[in-house]
Amino acid sequence: MKAVVRQNFDASVDAYTTYERRTNRFTSLARLLAAEMTARTDGGLGTVLDAGAGTGVSTRVFAETTADTIALDISREMLRKIDSTARLQADFDHLPLRDQSVDAIAFTASLFLVPEPATAVREAAKVLRADGVIGAVAPLGWFRPDGTDVFEQFERESRSPTDTSAVEEAVAGEFSTSTGTWKFSTTAENIRLFHAIPAMAARLYPKLDTEKRVRRARELLGSLDGTFEQRWRWVIGVPE
Ligand SMILES: C[S@@+](CC[C@H](N)C(=O)[O-])C[C@H]1O[C@@H](n2cnc3c(N)ncnc32)[C@H](O)[C@@H]1O
Repeated sequence: MKAVVRQNFDASVDAYTTYERRTNRFTSLARLLAAEMTARTDGGLGTVLDAGAGTGVSTRVFAETTADTIALDISREMLRKIDSTARLQADFDHLPLRDQSVDAIAFTASLFLVPEPATAVREAAKVLRADGVIGAVAPLGWFRPDGTDVFEQFERESRSPTDTSAVEEAVAGEFSTSTGTWKFSTTAENIRLFHAIPAMAARLYPKLDTEKRVRRARELLGSLDGTFEQRWRWVIGVPE
């Protein structure tokens, strides 16, 4: 499954960049997450592991607040977009870092992509210093003005997203946590653009190849119109 996630993101660089240029969504999420994490430290974030750094959107945000950021991702093609920071191609479940070597670990829209977030959080807990902070943000989906889930009405092969409660529980398994929900107003066009990213379309049509799944997602969402609310769950953990 992880090999599939890696391949999906390897094929997603251009569409991901287009979506981010248009919406700034991941920049906003990383900024909000960085602020929540910083608020739980005594003098700043120190060495930050940007876990699931992708093309470096979140890395750039964390680099604004600390001089020492490590960008880690399983996808080589996503990571290749980052040129300035220390980069590591690795899996969350096997971090190539010494125990207790970083002060903060941020999973900006990435921890929900692993089959077992609890395994990744246990591994993160090992490399985090004793007074460190961990943060994660994971999607809750898109909602109509009447509060119903946009995807409720659509026939697709799998439900997106599915794992956000598992992310929250995984962090709570190792740390003392605080949580909340961030809400953004968005458009039908932006929901279509999000699902033009092959890795995101894979959450609707996991069995189809890249081109087919993006096309099916575009067809599925073709009639969507109006404005919607996109919700993201955040969770911050500090040692118990
Ligand atoms: C939605 S992107 C978010 C990227 C970045 N944090 C941002 O704010 O734009 C999620 C990233 O998590 C990475 N990822 C997924 N599973 C991973 C794993 N097991 N280990 C490391 N990275 C992983 C993907 O390759 C992808 O680049």
